[in-house]
Amino acid sequence: MKGKILKILRGENDVVSGETISSQLGVSRVSVWKHIKRLQEVGYHIQATPKGYRLISAHDSLYPWEFGERESKIHYFDEVTSTMDVARNLARNDCPDFSVVIAGHQKKGRGRLKRTWLSSEGGLYFTIILRPQIPPALSSRVNFAASMILALTLRRMFKIDTVVKWPNDILVHGRKVAGLLSEMEAESDIITYINIGIGVNINNDPTPREPMATSLKKILGRNISRKQLLSEFLDHFENRLNNRALDSVISEWKSCTMTIGRHVKIVTNHDEFEGLAMDVDENGALILKLADGSVKTIIYGDCFHT
Ligand code: BTN
Repeated sequence: MKGKILKILRGENDVVSGETISSQLGVSRVSVWKHIKRLQEVGYHIQATPKGYRLISAHDSLYPWEFGERESKIHYFDEVTSTMDVARNLARNDCPDFSVVIAGHQKKGRGRLKRTWLSSEGGLYFTIILRPQIPPALSSRVNFAASMILALTLRRMFKIDTVVKWPNDILVHGRKVAGLLSEMEAESDIITYINIGIGVNINNDPTPREPMATSLKKILGRNISRKQLLSEFLDHFENRLNNRALDSVISEWKSCTMTIGRHVKIVTNHDEFEGLAMDVDENGALILKLADGSVKTIIYGDCFHT
């Protein structure tokens, strides 16, 4: 209902009477008033006059009603430890495929390889819960599809030169603008869920602790609508998953990466390798040619372009 009320108010520059809204939506004026009151409480600037209501300004809200038909599958929280924690609970409690957990701020945002993901206000932090009907061995293709679609969405929306660094970092001019973390549970040969967590630096300023990070605001010199970016990404990602097989994902991903053909250093918790990134195989592993000519398949690690 709140989404519908906002749609009416956004379509009018003038005051809209409570009666007009209630008759258009088939609810009582008291009900309209209650929804408006709640919207005001959560930050929408809606002027209430004796003649009706006028939307003065709407902040960059990520509440479920901003996402149209997705509303029932969007779970928004102002603050969480990590959207991964909330998503895991939902996934274990049978939430539907393509549910999305969004947070305004994370107290314990997690990055890959047990790192912290600093998650201040203004960034976009969300986890998508997926239940793909594929064998667990193919799960990495879903992650590669997500990073590819995010890179392409950012390119299309903002005309910026996004590339993917193996495995799933999104860079602009060598600086990281987004990262992806995934968790999966499977029973025998069936995936119960894959949760894909994505953090995008949007209107937040990366701290001096993240010297190789940047934000869309820094790149573009203006604030960006997180909701618009998230909506477009979700639409394209869902469309890609529903309408085309995952077989070609890695080759599509390769057209967005700048890792292949580069000299790279890979750091894992235990090892370090340097060499030429020759290829990425059908499971997303990096094929590295080491200085002694031997070839190594790297399944995970931090990749530095040297
Ligand atoms: C990385 O590049 O290391 C991955 C970063 C992933 C961050 C996102 S923000 C939303 C979700 N919740 C988390 O705690 N982490 C992921």
